[in-house]
Amino acid sequence: MNTTLIRNGRVITATDDYIADVLMQDGVIHAIGRNMVVGEGVKVIDASGLYVLPGGVDTHVHLQNIIGPTVTCDTFASGTRAAAFGGTTTVVDFALQTAEDSPLEAIARAQRLAGPQVNVDYSLHVIVTRVDAQVLADVRHAMRHEGVTSFKMFMAYPGVMMADDAAIFQMLRQVGADGGMVALHAENGTVIDLLIKEALEAGHASPRYHALTRPAILEGEATHRGIRLAELAEAQIYFVHVSSNQALKHIVTARAEGIPVFAETCPHYLLFDDSVYNSDEFEIAKYVMTPPLRTPDDQKHLWRALRYDDLQVIATDHCPFCMKEGHLGYQRQKMSGLHDFSKIPNGAPGIETRLTSLFDIGVMQGKLSLNRFVQLTSTTPAKLFGLFPKKGTIAVGSDADVVLFDPVATQVIHAEHLHSQCDYTLLEGRTLRGQVNKVFLRGQLIVDGEQWLGREGMGRFVPRGTVQAF
Ligand code: URP
Ligand code: ZN
Ligand code: ZN
Repeated sequence: MNTTLIRNGRVITATDDYIADVLMQDGVIHAIGRNMVVGEGVKVIDASGLYVLPGGVDTHVHLQNIIGPTVTCDTFASGTRAAAFGGTTTVVDFALQTAEDSPLEAIARAQRLAGPQVNVDYSLHVIVTRVDAQVLADVRHAMRHEGVTSFKMFMAYPGVMMADDAAIFQMLRQVGADGGMVALHAENGTVIDLLIKEALEAGHASPRYHALTRPAILEGEATHRGIRLAELAEAQIYFVHVSSNQALKHIVTARAEGIPVFAETCPHYLLFDDSVYNSDEFEIAKYVMTPPLRTPDDQKHLWRALRYDDLQVIATDHCPFCMKEGHLGYQRQKMSGLHDFSKIPNGAPGIETRLTSLFDIGVMQGKLSLNRFVQLTSTTPAKLFGLFPKKGTIAVGSDADVVLFDPVATQVIHAEHLHSQCDYTLLEGRTLRGQVNKVFLRGQLIVDGEQWLGREGMGRFVPRGTVQAF
């Protein structure tokens, strides 16, 4: 029997904030109380001065994902270890349905890859690229029998992952009726591809043109289209990586109309703005992610939406590619686009810095309450993707995924100290207030300061239920 008592910490959930002792036994939270008396053999950890948070739930990560001609540079092993050091104990990655196979094969393939490697608990969204009767049957089977209840579809990347509107509508109609979630990448892909082609023909090949060829209005247009499809399908819908007010304003309006629209943003859209693209140095390829960084005015709207619940989740979209060459046998990552910005693999790292960066710029700057911070990074993602209350809170019976967080400590971020295999961090040299002190996965201590105590393969696949948003 593995029993640990966390004594005298400040327990913070999405709704509560109190000093208590938390007893973890056999992988779950067994009791919460004051001045608890425990017998011999129970490990006691003094958490005075520390926050006791539910483990982070990051519902948008790309580990070992094949994206175009390359693969993200974190394996399930390295990425989940980095997640754990950052206080995240559950991740939801992607299983890509290829042209040849079915969603069920995609799930099985991702599980075979992830299973022996994962250091934290995980689940999968299936990326559905093609819809027919068999695919719809498989999607229903995945929801009922595999515990996979969310499906990502792309309105961008024509010829690679883009699904047409009819395919998206069919998925929304069925998945919505079955209580699951379709997550949309909303950008008008065909117009973007035209703008990219025109930019390259005009000799504009440097990374700054990545942002200029993906204007916010095309995120707004696709978001509006996705909402109307969801409205017609009478389905709930979730927008990933919302970056702009052009997209937000449609989300806000739709929610006011009573349409069940949910959305996430990512730390990088809050931490940085499009001024980083004012350079002809290839270095700015670090910021080539999709959608690109937006204006300070967009940022202001993102914060407002986070405050008033028009955005419900902050996930990382951790999609790491190295700046230098020769990683994991994929010789060229960001460097592939040295002479053509359209060949720079899109994405940036962030899995390890999500909680601390948001604590610093959100909580410490008075933009988010502590409860809201937990709600955005753990509780609501768990609810929207059918993981709650197993994950996403500190309550009797929930998994003992617990983070002891030191709100007073400060740290200076350097890529070489992080645990991702990515060779850079967007936060290089930045001082952040707040630090993850200890992390428990189902009651087992896996991170103790800088010490790694976890084990590859100890993470479990978590079968998920339906959307718990209503
Ligand atoms: O730039 C990004 N976000 N890359 C990952 C793929 C996606 O669109 O989420
Ligand atoms: Zn996307
Ligand atoms: Zn993504």
